[in-house]
Amino acid sequence: MPEVTKDIDRRWIEPELLDILPPDDPRAIGSRRDLIWINALMFQRAIMSGLLKANVRKRPARILELGAGDGAFMLSVARRFARSWTDVDLVMLDQVNLISDKRRADFAALGWRVETVTGDVFDWIARPRARAYDVVSANLFLHHFSDAELKVLFAALRWLAPVFIATEPSRNAIALKMCSLLRVIGVNEVTMHDAAASVRAGFAGNELSSLWPSDSGQQCEERRIGPFTHAFRVISKEAFPRCTMPLS
Ligand SMILES: C[S@@+](CC[C@H](N)C(=O)[O-])C[C@H]1O[C@@H](n2cnc3c(N)ncnc32)[C@H](O)[C@@H]1O
Repeated sequence: MPEVTKDIDRRWIEPELLDILPPDDPRAIGSRRDLIWINALMFQRAIMSGLLKANVRKRPARILELGAGDGAFMLSVARRFARSWTDVDLVMLDQVNLISDKRRADFAALGWRVETVTGDVFDWIARPRARAYDVVSANLFLHHFSDAELKVLFAALRWLAPVFIATEPSRNAIALKMCSLLRVIGVNEVTMHDAAASVRAGFAGNELSSLWPSDSGQQCEERRIGPFTHAFRVISKEAFPRCTMPLS
């Protein structure tokens, strides 16, 4: 593992403990709880909601979330759209099924129907499917994968929806430094490890755009938002008239 001060010019991908531990391990349960705080500190909910609002003008009928975890993050986003987006089908994909009945009920109260897909994202995208969603979103998910894997993922995602939005860790020195201070808010060892690993595996510059198929005819934009977040947005031509320039 690189030292904290080591070069962050290039991505460094290493296994995250949360992906290795059994879902019912108390350390994993604690770390998923910590994720709520991490998302709050990174302003991920506000950033994701802002990007969705700017890029998806019409109520989406079908949303796919990749790496949905326990659904807490998407529920917090859905609550921001409580008045305008009802009657939504939300498909939550994750390698672990952590969506509780209570979570489903919370979504149902907003008029969102939840379907879960449990499995590896690469197995799932290998099955051909047409443009089946209005939006695909991902929060703290893409950084798990190597550039080669992301190329494979993006080659499939291009066909899935007219809008793709991802909010990922920004790979920068300040963010890495802040990870070492997370202990102050009482996160556990798993979170301490995974937070720093996520920053090292995070993104900078136009790294994600360069992995999106160049012949897609879609418009990619990405940039750092605040100290911790790297946002990536792809829209298809038919979505352009409905969009503002969300990242500027
Ligand atoms: C850091 S968590 C983020 C969870 C959620 N998006 C959030 O913000 O709270 C990353 C999630 O990606 C899932 N994941 C990692 N690799 C995966 C894969 N190959 N296929 C499907 N899910 C995966 C993990 O199980 C985990 O729930």
